[in-house]
Amino acid sequence: MNEIKIFCPATVANLSCGFDVLGLCLENIGDEMIIRKVKEKGLRITKITGADLPLETNKNVAGVAGMALLSHLDLEFGVEIEIHKKIKAGSGIGSSAASAAGVVVGINELLGIPMHRKELIPFAMEGEFLASGSYHADNVSPAILGGFTLVRSYNPLEVIKIKSPKHLYVTIIHPHIEVITSEARSILPKEIPLKTAITQWGNLGGFISGLYTEDYGLLGRCLQDVVAEPYRKNLIPEFDSIKKVALENGALGCGISGSGPSIYSLSKGLENSKKVENAIQNIFAKTTIPFDTYTSKVCDKGVRKI
Ligand code: HSE
Repeated sequence: MNEIKIFCPATVANLSCGFDVLGLCLENIGDEMIIRKVKEKGLRITKITGADLPLETNKNVAGVAGMALLSHLDLEFGVEIEIHKKIKAGSGIGSSAASAAGVVVGINELLGIPMHRKELIPFAMEGEFLASGSYHADNVSPAILGGFTLVRSYNPLEVIKIKSPKHLYVTIIHPHIEVITSEARSILPKEIPLKTAITQWGNLGGFISGLYTEDYGLLGRCLQDVVAEPYRKNLIPEFDSIKKVALENGALGCGISGSGPSIYSLSKGLENSKKVENAIQNIFAKTTIPFDTYTSKVCDKGVRKI
């Protein structure tokens, strides 16, 4: 195989109770990428559509992640990549992670899968570091592994994949404003009170239990964020009214997707998820800010060949 075309999924990180450790993979929202083996060593980005991003390898998220993997593998050849962006940068649904995850999985597939997908995560994190100045893995992990993922530890890195309950759906609203992840991180306090930590880790443990036992009520009760949301919600117009209307319309829970501005809701069943989507659209249409909404199942597969 000399060329591969792949789908690089969008992801929702944090999921309220799991700041920097929890994430899920969306099914039908994502970028496309073509990766080609070439004689000349190194990595070149030959084409980018859908976004105004640098072609220079060392300034591009996919370039940096791909180079990190190529240097590790020490190959006799190089790769060329084309990136077709559909996920907007700064949207909060893992745009940089899709590029970083896509390139490392794509190269690995081209080579006949010499590495396990989990081993690719640190290379993709290099791309996240370029994009946001922090080595978080809560978007790249679900983008690479699919389903829900939990970063159990960063040092050493240990990521656990958790299958999604059958009837779980995600509704996303993406208001067309940009929130820069590094800025959304800089407004968070560096330390949290013990009481806040107790609430957060109780909910995170409960959420993981709810995923394994498919207890939708428990999942909903755990979708609370006392760590980041109180600070970050001020960056997102109408956050409180969207959350209120999502919950009134049957969402299990609602919160900021990654560092925002997208807002996610989880619902049991497609019908409920669509109802939440309609209700949110009606609320946000009253603002002058353009927006998109999506409904998606949680996808058990990460980056995939197309
Ligand atoms: N966990 C990261 C953050 C995700 O919230 O800053 C960024 O998408």
